[in-house]
Amino acid sequence: MIDNQHIEFSIILEFIYKNSGLDFSVYRHSMIERRMGKRLSSLNIDSYLHYLDYLKNHSEEMTALLDVLTINVTRFFRNTFTFEYIATHILPKIISKKKSSNNNQLRIWSAGCSTGEEPYSIAILINEILEKEGLDFNTMIFATDIDKKALQSAHKAVYSFENIKNVKYELLKKYFFDRNDSYILKPGIKQMVSFSQFDMLNKNTMIPSESIYGEFDIVFCRNLLIYINPLSHNRIFEKLCFSLVKNGILVLGKTETTASEFTRKFEDVTGMCNIYKKR
Ligand SMILES: C[S@@+](CC[C@H](N)C(=O)[O-])C[C@H]1O[C@@H](n2cnc3c(N)ncnc32)[C@H](O)[C@@H]1O
Repeated sequence: MIDNQHIEFSIILEFIYKNSGLDFSVYRHSMIERRMGKRLSSLNIDSYLHYLDYLKNHSEEMTALLDVLTINVTRFFRNTFTFEYIATHILPKIISKKKSSNNNQLRIWSAGCSTGEEPYSIAILINEILEKEGLDFNTMIFATDIDKKALQSAHKAVYSFENIKNVKYELLKKYFFDRNDSYILKPGIKQMVSFSQFDMLNKNTMIPSESIYGEFDIVFCRNLLIYINPLSHNRIFEKLCFSLVKNGILVLGKTETTASEFTRKFEDVTGMCNIYKKR
């Protein structure tokens, strides 16, 4: 990118940040350029400067731009290694500990759940374990996002091949109906997840009100921090830390780590896939 273009591009990122609170300057610029380029071509606009003018004068364009920056991108069993580790090490340990103390409640929060693939993947894993062990647990999975449209789609639970391509064949057969190239999640798994709107940056709420008292055994907050200015990360970590039980598990995205002030409050469990235990 030549210098002028670079400056104009940065001004657009600044404008997005001021108007949406989403900081794309910490995201890969090549990816944003490519996706923003799609908006420019569909509007027949030939420079970032003209696009900035357009953005300022057409408030609906911000929604269209955020849509192409696809902050909702997700899929079932995203980062398969993380889910493998949770299935083989984390969940069995938590379940066995609860079993020995006659506690049959599992409480999980997926914060920034997008269109539902993450909480539904967790529900499938838990169902598999409970079924194999012949256990009857009361599993509550609270899934939240700021984006109402994404939550509506999560409720429907109808997915494309792109969304389900990490799902193992046996699980796909067992938990989905295959209809005209769409994969429809079966009701048993859908019922395990409760969706609601919740803003991780809201200063007045620490936990989703649907969960009543928080106290989660596991909290997933993956690929959300990457959109947020690091200066605001503490606000999110306060919620994550508050909402977990002692020794509760926090799962972050592949490129995310705990904010520095919170490092001592969490122990890195694997050293490689961003799974932390609250001290
Ligand atoms: C890339 S998706 C991640 C989905 C899933 N966790 C995953 O890793 O596959 C990021 C999600 O964070 C949500 N999000 C962004 N800012 C948020 C905020 N302040 N509060 C709650 N959710 C937010 C977006 O709407 C989007 O659905």
